[in-house]
Amino acid sequence: MRRLLSVLLALLLTCATLTAPARAGTAREVTYDQYSLMVDGRRIVLQSAEFHYFRLPSQELWRDVLEKFRAAGFNAVSLYFSWAYHSPAPGVYDFGGVRDVDRLLRTAREAGLYVIARPGPYINAESTGGGFPAWLKTVPGRGRSFEPGYREAYREWLHRINPIIARHQVTNGGPVILYNAENEYQVNTDAAYMQDIQDQARADGITVPITTNDCCDAGSWSSTWATGPGAVQIPGVDDYPQSFECANPELWGPWGEGLTEKLRDDIPVFAAEYQAGAIDVGNAGYDRCRQLTGPAFMKFFYKNNLIQTGATMFSYYMGYGGTNWGWLAQPNDVYTSYDYGAAITEARRLTPKYDEFKRQGYFLEAVTPLAKTDAVTSPATSGNAALTTVARANPDTGTQFVLVRHADRAATGTDSATLDWAAPDGRYQVPVQVKGRDAHVLVAGYDLGGQRLAVSTSEIMTHAAIGGRDVAVLYGTAGSPGATVLRYSSQPSVKVLEGAVRAAYGGGELRLDYAHDGLARVLVTGGGRRPMLLLIGTDEEAARFWRASTAAGPVLVRGTELVRSATLRGDVVRLAADTVAGEVEVFAPPPARRVEVGPRAEIGRGGAAASQGAAHDEVRVTRTASGSLLGVTRAPAAAKLPELTGWRARAEAPEAAPGFDDSRWTAADHTTTTSPHPPRTLPVLYADDYGFHYGNVWYRGHFTATGTETRIDLNAITGLRGNYLVWLNGRYLGSAAGGVQADSGDQSTPPNPDPGPGHFDIPTGLLKPGADNVLAVLVANMGHNDDWIADDLRFKQPRGLVAASVGGTPIAWRIQGAAGVDRVRGPLSTGGLYGERTGWHLPRYQDRSWKETAPATPLTPGVTWYRTSFELDLPKGQDVPVGLRFGGDPSPEYRVLIFLNGWNVGQYGADIGPQREFSLPAGLLDEHGNNTLALAVTAERPVAGPGPLSLFAYGNVRGGP
Ligand code: GAL
Repeated sequence: MRRLLSVLLALLLTCATLTAPARAGTAREVTYDQYSLMVDGRRIVLQSAEFHYFRLPSQELWRDVLEKFRAAGFNAVSLYFSWAYHSPAPGVYDFGGVRDVDRLLRTAREAGLYVIARPGPYINAESTGGGFPAWLKTVPGRGRSFEPGYREAYREWLHRINPIIARHQVTNGGPVILYNAENEYQVNTDAAYMQDIQDQARADGITVPITTNDCCDAGSWSSTWATGPGAVQIPGVDDYPQSFECANPELWGPWGEGLTEKLRDDIPVFAAEYQAGAIDVGNAGYDRCRQLTGPAFMKFFYKNNLIQTGATMFSYYMGYGGTNWGWLAQPNDVYTSYDYGAAITEARRLTPKYDEFKRQGYFLEAVTPLAKTDAVTSPATSGNAALTTVARANPDTGTQFVLVRHADRAATGTDSATLDWAAPDGRYQVPVQVKGRDAHVLVAGYDLGGQRLAVSTSEIMTHAAIGGRDVAVLYGTAGSPGATVLRYSSQPSVKVLEGAVRAAYGGGELRLDYAHDGLARVLVTGGGRRPMLLLIGTDEEAARFWRASTAAGPVLVRGTELVRSATLRGDVVRLAADTVAGEVEVFAPPPARRVEVGPRAEIGRGGAAASQGAAHDEVRVTRTASGSLLGVTRAPAAAKLPELTGWRARAEAPEAAPGFDDSRWTAADHTTTTSPHPPRTLPVLYADDYGFHYGNVWYRGHFTATGTETRIDLNAITGLRGNYLVWLNGRYLGSAAGGVQADSGDQSTPPNPDPGPGHFDIPTGLLKPGADNVLAVLVANMGHNDDWIADDLRFKQPRGLVAASVGGTPIAWRIQGAAGVDRVRGPLSTGGLYGERTGWHLPRYQDRSWKETAPATPLTPGVTWYRTSFELDLPKGQDVPVGLRFGGDPSPEYRVLIFLNGWNVGQYGADIGPQREFSLPAGLLDEHGNNTLALAVTAERPVAGPGPLSLFAYGNVRGGP
């Protein structure tokens, strides 16, 4: 009976110390005060990470990423909704398949995450048009303003997306906890517009607090209009202190200290977008971005922000970056991969940054007094002025949080000091040691489960009441000294199970001294409290722990690659875990005796019979002196990937031939445009004006030559990395780089009058005087500029030809881009190449008549397609992310569009970006069947093709989504 009571008590205590992310079904209330958000009156520290569903076109993988977020201790996900992704044309919206955001929101809830919903209308995000559909370029009224035209358009979007978001709000039993209006709306602002977005949201049933993300420090939207029209309830601030200079990963806060401002007295401090990676503007490769924003940056900047500002709302940008598949990229800042150097890679692999998020996230979740703190006097660091402290305390519990770091934030050496700490339970002298570019958050006066932690110089990762005792994981830098003081009413019994820990008792206090080294284990019993198992590890050892909740309370797991969830049924602990060969140790309540590891812990989770019947491995376990269950997991079966052989090729570009029938193409004959960029020659040739918004576009210009023409003068705007190719009467004349003329960021700079010039001499004898001559031009459209400065000039910059002349002779133009919208793959996947219009990229296309040849064969200028197919049979119940690798050196003379089973998964070429490896996400990739690869290679000159291609695995684990 006593035992039962203690288990019940442990359960109660556990519930009281856990923040509870969204649970299905129950309507709850979201409120806030100056300290934190609250759900039904209970404070939460919001620990969120950004995820772009539109950059991962595979619903099953959404679950994988969101479960990985939750497993790192995030309790929320921040989601932009891209208007462009859903709307190919005015009035046309598609929320099916990979665009099923209703499913996305359900998945977030099932993963146990709150959602910050960010439907824009403008989102930026290095996405085409900053999330604006390209058809909006032809709509009058300045974007991001209250002007008519734009106003009707954005209202249309909001009235489509808002109701979906609304039904998933916390207040309706769903996960959505905040609604973000607009995005970094800083310049050229219009209060009526900002207010209207909110009015529309409320009219559409949005009841949760509305927020907005301010950029570039305070003094902007939310503070200027804090109470007037347009003001939101909880403004937050974006901060990217580490810059985007991935080529220089040793930089240290070049853009400031990264302290999130408190924008108003009545609201919590909200780090709405805090840097957690970087775009690769300098083409340095994302590994460098990951280094630039690595664990050292996270430790120092995130903890500094937490304690200096008392922020309780964090959203890290990005948690997972993904892929700019199709024509999703805004062309000026990014290429195909949007890996972002995030904690989870584009191929969904976990990195040391993930470990650091987990250490911090678990702490924020377990140590609840953090949700309400005020600044207090901090302890002195006697003996070494190189170290400094900052402190906060919870006014109700007295619990103190002390940040210890170098006074000079750029310092790189290791420094030690003694903290003279006036803590709630007494005055303590404790040793601290801090590496350069590191920081520790230490806790004192804390009711840790059933224990009283007087003070510790180890950091708390987590603690849980398991089976009538407290299990706590503390950690510190390998080799650094640590001291932990706990209070008891009488002398407890201390058993050091592992490691070198000295224990001393006196005056009601147990003091443990040690160096952080491996994983020490100390069992403390008696002393008037329930038992406690203290696990004291290095940073690395701490990161090996996972925490999951079961109906019978929390479990802790040491080892495995990932624990998604756990259930306890009878005496079996079933872990939904990703595993390789290695140790697994489970701390679970009685009667747990057995451990099973498999892809999914619960059958029928979220209503879906997910992986029903999937094999679960029983792991043979023994009980350890720590009371845990210890065993070894099996290695995953080897994954064999086939070689890519059997390529067939076919050259195209029939559009270049004079006799090509273009009679069904759209006549490009407009003499006016809504574009703020006036045409330099008529007719207007802007592709968007004729409804061709994404991918390549063809022009055919017919003219009756006088015979005196000697030169063709063209001008095209493609966005960065774009080009155009020119033929006259079927003869290839050459190519030119497309204009960019974006991102000047300076509104005073007039539009460039000569953005993408190309001058082509007409070879003698080619013209047919008095007869029809045909000029054919293939123009790349690399995507649309963003509208960050809300001035229309950048976003509404045309794509395609912007000027054309053949010595003044009149030209009759026709234009052709994508042939309709691919209903499955959406508006951004397919462009207007002949092969795309004819379905050469699609799996079922019959290519048997094509020539057998590998992609390395010499190319002729124009477009050459290559196709092959391959069978996959990856081991079931394993996660093997697959990529496509281009061998050899890429040439600036060609660019390659890559289609997997008809989906445009990226673009390769020396001029495109540094990327050689392309993710082929499961879902688009049939892991147990036949797959088709198609490459469309556009060559500017006769060169050898892109060379050997191969498949590779980014990793291999048992388990998976
Ligand atoms: C922010 C913006 C995001 C993204 C980020 C850089 O300013 O709000 O959408 O563009 O910068 O990756």
